[in-house]
Amino acid sequence: MMNRDVVALDDPVGESLRGPHAHLARRLGRTATYLPGVATFAAVSADPDPAEWADLARLLGRGELADMFSHPAIPPSDWEPVFVLEGRQMIWPGSGRPDHPHAETGTGVVELGADSVPEMLDLVARTQPGPFWPRTHELGTYLGIRDNGTLVAMAGERLRPPGWTEISAVCTAPEARGRGHAARLVSALVARIVSRNERPFMHVAEANLGAIALYERLGFEARKHVTFRGFRTP
Ligand SMILES: CC(C)(COP(=O)(O)OP(=O)(O)OC[C@H]1O[C@@H](n2cnc3c(N)ncnc32)[C@H](O)[C@@H]1OP(=O)(O)O)[C@@H](O)C(=O)NCCC(=O)NCCS
Repeated sequence: MMNRDVVALDDPVGESLRGPHAHLARRLGRTATYLPGVATFAAVSADPDPAEWADLARLLGRGELADMFSHPAIPPSDWEPVFVLEGRQMIWPGSGRPDHPHAETGTGVVELGADSVPEMLDLVARTQPGPFWPRTHELGTYLGIRDNGTLVAMAGERLRPPGWTEISAVCTAPEARGRGHAARLVSALVARIVSRNERPFMHVAEANLGAIALYERLGFEARKHVTFRGFRTP
């Protein structure tokens, strides 16, 4: 793999907001964030100075969440820390398609659009896969599996640093787990992403051993440890 390809994965939010997600971005100076309801992730340059942090504070508003995702820069001391979460970035090795037994069985997998947002929000509330808002589905393709009409599993595309697509919001309702739903959905997304000559990646909390085991079994490999941080603007 060429080095320039993986460099985008060190600033996945900024690379997405300046690139494939520019149409969903709000920007001020060198800072950027997503439109309200799409995502709270914010981007700054590699080594932001106080003026740049002031720009981000103005862009987000007073007392608002500055979700810095995995960016290592620490804001000025009057920004109150809100959360710290240790995580792992995982990547799909190479350009091959998934060879998991579920990979090519698209049976029962449906695309979820704006009409499905209430069901998606409900499933997320029950399973807590990570942040998801009413317009998050506009970041990419979201796929789901229904059981007797009820949405029981979903997964979708989130960050889009050039050349890559992040798979996110992987979740299965507790009563529908262990049936291969998550494996089938992630594999279907991998196949879609690889077929447009991009590579899949994901982020997972280090403590989420079940999800890490699932992604490793599907073929994902750890690329690096990351720390997710959120702050409140002054
Ligand atoms: C993680 C989660 C999505 C798995 O959903 P699921 O539909 O039950 O997963 P699957 O049935 O597709 O499991 C796929 C494979 O992973 C394995 N697996 C699933 N959970 C596992 C666990 N806790 N430990 C080890 N292996 C596990 C299964 O044995 C299966 O292997 P196989 O296909 O080779 O037989 C589900 O537990 C969940 O919604 N968790 C809460 C939300 C969450 O943490 N999402 C991930 C955010 S990054």
